[in-house]
Amino acid sequence: MTIPLVETVGLNKFFKTPGGMLHAVENINLKIPARKTLGVVGESGCGKSTLGRAILRLTPVTSGEVLFEGKNILHYSRDDMKHMYRNMQMIFQDPYSALDPRMTLYNLISEPIRELYGDSLCQTEMDERVHLIMELCGLPRSYANSYPHELDGGRRQRVGLARAMVIEPKFVVCDEPVSALDVSVQAQILNLLMDLQEQRGLSYMFITHDLCVVRHISDDIMVMYMGQAVECARKEELFRHPLHPYTKALLSAIPSTNLSRRNRIRYMPKGEVSSPINPAPGCRFAPRCPYVSKKCKAEYQLKEVDTGHYVACHMYD
Ligand SMILES: Nc1ncnc2c1ncn2[C@@H]1O[C@H](COP(=O)(O)OP(=O)(O)OP(=O)(O)O)[C@@H](O)[C@H]1O
Ligand SMILES: [Mg+2]
Repeated sequence: MTIPLVETVGLNKFFKTPGGMLHAVENINLKIPARKTLGVVGESGCGKSTLGRAILRLTPVTSGEVLFEGKNILHYSRDDMKHMYRNMQMIFQDPYSALDPRMTLYNLISEPIRELYGDSLCQTEMDERVHLIMELCGLPRSYANSYPHELDGGRRQRVGLARAMVIEPKFVVCDEPVSALDVSVQAQILNLLMDLQEQRGLSYMFITHDLCVVRHISDDIMVMYMGQAVECARKEELFRHPLHPYTKALLSAIPSTNLSRRNRIRYMPKGEVSSPINPAPGCRFAPRCPYVSKKCKAEYQLKEVDTGHYVACHMYD
């Protein structure tokens, strides 16, 4: 069996708050194979960014394991992690605040190389790498001496991509990289990410709350609700055959261009949203679920109900 590039085992990330422990990420088990994209989708505050940050160790993990090529990186020293960041990078949502406004594009894009490799590259090698990645990311070479404020949102996000890609990582966490962009620019950036994936054999964890975006870019999709994974499957399977009541509610909210589907009933879950602070055991969606049973409030478990299709719902026991 091939080892996934990235895997988490029982990953937990809790925040200490004045009210108690906030379960931002709870018992997440995921696998991302080489050259594939896992889309992570769910509403605001469900723990998507915290999960991405925990996998990259940008926030301390509470418990569990993060395996990269089969090795648990949570035991790695600071120096070992520095080495790991040659393989793992992150692209952020906001291309405005993620770039230092005082730096030129050349300096912004060469900075990650200098941080990881020091001065071991000569000027010619550095120029070659920066110009190559600018070209791959659709940034004309003449922009090298420009500053971020001289660029529009789409080009700024291209700089964010170039900064992540210039050190040739194997795995990139993309945290809502197109949410702040116009729809037409969104498509360009998504296609650029997919081209880079193909050319460089990259794996992505692609975080979004937008189902159309996740459908475009993912191979597999994980649906999160309040820190828990409620369903995980191949993209086609999830859209064709959603099982968890929360996934069904999410999918029913996608606007349709098909007139015959426009008037269909949209199912919106009712009931009170539970708190992620000191949560009760069981499924977080239980208080809003129309099919809730006693078992749902006692036990949460993500189970494989069909090949590669996992769901955390007792209706399918
Ligand atoms: N540093 C922190 N301290 C305390 N709580 C935090 C911290 N960061 C995040 N949280 C909480 O953790 C939960 C998950 O937050 P997170 O930002 O991961 O959600 P998200 O799914 O990325 O949301 P969004 O779609 O709005 O970006 C939320 O309840 C949030 O309030
Ligand atoms: Mg987020």
